[in-house]
Amino acid sequence: MVVTTSSSSHLLRGEKRLPVTVTRFKDGELYVKIHETRLKNKKVTVIAGFQPPADNLMELLLVLDGLRRLGARIRLIITYFGYARQDRTKPGEALAAAVVCRILRRYTDNITVIDMHSKRLKKYLTYKNIVPITPFLPIIPEGTVVVAPDKGAIPRARHWQRALRAPLAFLQKTRPAQDVVEILSIKGSVRGKNVLIVDDMIATGGTIIEAARVLKQHGANKIYVAATHGIFAGDALKNLAQSPISRIFVTNTLPQKKHPLLTVIPIDELIKQKHI
Ligand code: R5P
Repeated sequence: MVVTTSSSSHLLRGEKRLPVTVTRFKDGELYVKIHETRLKNKKVTVIAGFQPPADNLMELLLVLDGLRRLGARIRLIITYFGYARQDRTKPGEALAAAVVCRILRRYTDNITVIDMHSKRLKKYLTYKNIVPITPFLPIIPEGTVVVAPDKGAIPRARHWQRALRAPLAFLQKTRPAQDVVEILSIKGSVRGKNVLIVDDMIATGGTIIEAARVLKQHGANKIYVAATHGIFAGDALKNLAQSPISRIFVTNTLPQKKHPLLTVIPIDELIKQKHI
């Protein structure tokens, strides 16, 4: 049996779902009711992402609580793990990623995450990580150089490099302030080549816009981007449309609106085949 929360309701459309009501009180609080109550010892797969994080995370917690009270055996598939980027702290800062992990692990120890931002969260939560690369491969133009936009993206870029049998280039990034990106250096040759920047997510777009600017300066030809999660916060898509990026490929872990720059790659089958 499957439950999808609001932010994941676009996924697995053909699949029969458990009937769940989610409404909101006038004061803003959420209310959740699961209508099938004979769930004792039944396996239930909950598919949820939390972006935007606050209400979607709360909805998920209420669904998990309702199911646990009914005695269901919960398997959780997190399509987008919000707060994962807040996984390190300076004195006085909250460790938001750990807070979310600690709450989730109270409900189930059977958790799969689609492309968790960093392995650091393994410290706080046991989960299986799925990084979708294969669903992208058929539509990636041939002969591209794979580019890691920052240090964190290097292991991912190496996977892509092997899958595409392509050359690799790395950028070194720094964040002088929150949501501000600066590229410091580039290793590898991109001159006259089409390039594919690979990353786990696009939020403000700052990372890939800055990467694309530097790649162009170094003589790159067409610039493509492949990312698992397309958040596109604020004016991200508007800014990306004004950048030298030719095309962006993202999966449907988050619902996407049509945009001339975007190609959305469904990963429903991947979720279905492997986990339900
Ligand atoms: C950084 O570590 C991530 O992998 C992404 O590169 C980053 O979070 C993307 O954010 P933005 O689009 O705001 O630059």
